[in-house]
Amino acid sequence: MRLSNSKTEKENTNLANELDKERIPEHIAIIMDGNGRWAIKKGLPRSFGHNKGVSVLKEIIKISKKIHCKVLTVYAFSTENWSRPEKEVDFLINLFEKVLKKEISKLHQESIRINFIGDLSPFPESLKLIINNSENLTKENKNFILNVCLNYGGRQEILKATKKIAIKSSSGKIKPSDIDEKLFNSELLTNGIKDPELLIRTSGEKRISNFLLWQLAYSEIYITDVLWPDFTEVEFLKAIKDYQSRNRRFGGIESLSNESFKDSYFSSLSKND
Ligand code: FPP
Repeated sequence: MRLSNSKTEKENTNLANELDKERIPEHIAIIMDGNGRWAIKKGLPRSFGHNKGVSVLKEIIKISKKIHCKVLTVYAFSTENWSRPEKEVDFLINLFEKVLKKEISKLHQESIRINFIGDLSPFPESLKLIINNSENLTKENKNFILNVCLNYGGRQEILKATKKIAIKSSSGKIKPSDIDEKLFNSELLTNGIKDPELLIRTSGEKRISNFLLWQLAYSEIYITDVLWPDFTEVEFLKAIKDYQSRNRRFGGIESLSNESFKDSYFSSLSKND
């Protein structure tokens, strides 16, 4: 046991040392998927997967801080998750409440700010109260931001922003020509939060499932088959290493000077002539 632990620690340190400290993503978004499958594979109720998922999230927050990533946004409950069996929905709601009550003072001590993103209105008052208290308690914290998306849906968020803008426009507060990305951003639930540079999705599904549809426009996407409860420090560091190997062009081309563009363009012409 000791041996395998120290092997993992060594692997972590090696991977961490290989990272380019100048290119750590400031904001990482995560779709924490696979809790249910993890539990079922072990012959356990799905709730065990969600419980294990919480400890993995705590670990990932710790490592994010260690490597100086500044913001983590996690998808904890989507607008579609209400269609799960009532027992599971109730379990998740109780879990959010229990975890918040237990962890909030620790998060605050570590100067972590916690924000909740989504339509919180359908949740029980007891959960809304602890959410409100947690946001208020931590709102001045500067060390790290944890955004928890609860009853969140990207399309719903975009529609809400569009309606707000339409109302402002029809009442004459803004002109249609004022509508640009900056204004649109300011009406989103993530107003003030920089877009994620990296999206991680666990459990191998290759979709974004209505998560941060606007904000992920240029994010790098990393998908791993590892189920969320098995997502370790090594897996997280691997995702960041992979991100650092990407060439982010934002719709442009690899940074070639005009001269080298001309050179390669004309040499390819002469080859084909
Ligand atoms: C997806 O796995 C996971 C969820 C729907 C819940 C994630 C919630 C946590 C990890 C708790 C976070 C707690 C706080 C307070 C932020 P799944 O159930 O969809 O798994 P499956 O795809 O294998 O069925």
